[in-house]
Amino acid sequence: MSQKIVLSGIKPSGSPHLGNYAGMLQPALALARRTDCQAYYFIADYHALNSVQDPARLKRLLHEVAATYLALGLDPARAVFYRQSAVPEIFEISQALACVCPKGFMNRAHAYKAAVAQNLEKGLRDPDAGVNMGLFNYPLLMAADILAFDTDLVPVGRDQKQHVEYARDLAIRFNKTFGDTFRVPEISLRADLPALPGTDGRKMSKSYDNTIALFDPPQVLKHRIMKLKTDSKGEGAAKDPSDSLLVTYFQQVASPSESKIFIEDFIAGMGYGTAKHRLFEKMEALLSEPRRIYTDLMADPSTIDRTLAEGATKARQKAGQVRDRMRRSVGIS
Ligand code: TRP
Repeated sequence: MSQKIVLSGIKPSGSPHLGNYAGMLQPALALARRTDCQAYYFIADYHALNSVQDPARLKRLLHEVAATYLALGLDPARAVFYRQSAVPEIFEISQALACVCPKGFMNRAHAYKAAVAQNLEKGLRDPDAGVNMGLFNYPLLMAADILAFDTDLVPVGRDQKQHVEYARDLAIRFNKTFGDTFRVPEISLRADLPALPGTDGRKMSKSYDNTIALFDPPQVLKHRIMKLKTDSKGEGAAKDPSDSLLVTYFQQVASPSESKIFIEDFIAGMGYGTAKHRLFEKMEALLSEPRRIYTDLMADPSTIDRTLAEGATKARQKAGQVRDRMRRSVGIS
């Protein structure tokens, strides 16, 4: 039986939060458990370097992200689990992809365009102010992350959709120029989930301080949930589930049938206090055991480092084969 290769990564630029869980971690971990899939999951530490330029912080965030995967049940004996920086073949492939990538193609990448739009809004003279080449090249490196492993499927949140399209596009361009070399990947999105807003209603993002962190202590989690803004409808009054953070968050952590009941109760007049309590209980049921594992791993990150080093050896084997194929295709071998 040939297995599908499933690959995904997280950039360690902040502590993992509810958006990471629902959009990427939960679906990715479910795929990793399937016997018809071989997972390659990693921590995109060189991707973080364009914004995290404090070595101690980068190291801590790397461990936080790695501990999160492991605490939520990633089995490193089955999945190949590594950090990007330990696989130099990826960077070599990235350089080859750069040579078939039109510069204008990168100009249209969301993150770069958002940075430029922000500069113009601020009235800055230089539209590229504060943009480093790490940010500009982000989609190229990410394409190399994916193509280096003959990936079939990339489970990611919606915010990464364009990046996977870039990887597809670059693979196709490269193959046209140099002959069949890279496998063209597919994206795997959880289409059933609504986009996840932060606690203030804007996009959930570490930079807005509006996230629900996965492994905060229970008192902090409870406080974050209890503080969520609602309207002033009291107990017994029908509530609108289409416009409620409580419902959206509940859906991220519960099964569709549990969510259905929650929504029915919500419409039937469940009080906001009760709804918040149920959300907290649901998250605790899901996260209390992983939190314990996470806390233990963070107390002694050398276990994490050892696990990642073992994964890197396996990752380099696979990426080395693809790199050699790329070199033969272009005439550097
Ligand atoms: N861009 C992703 C994030 O922000 C991380 C990432 C890097 C990634 N390379 C990848 C995800 C390859 C999937 C596949 O978290």
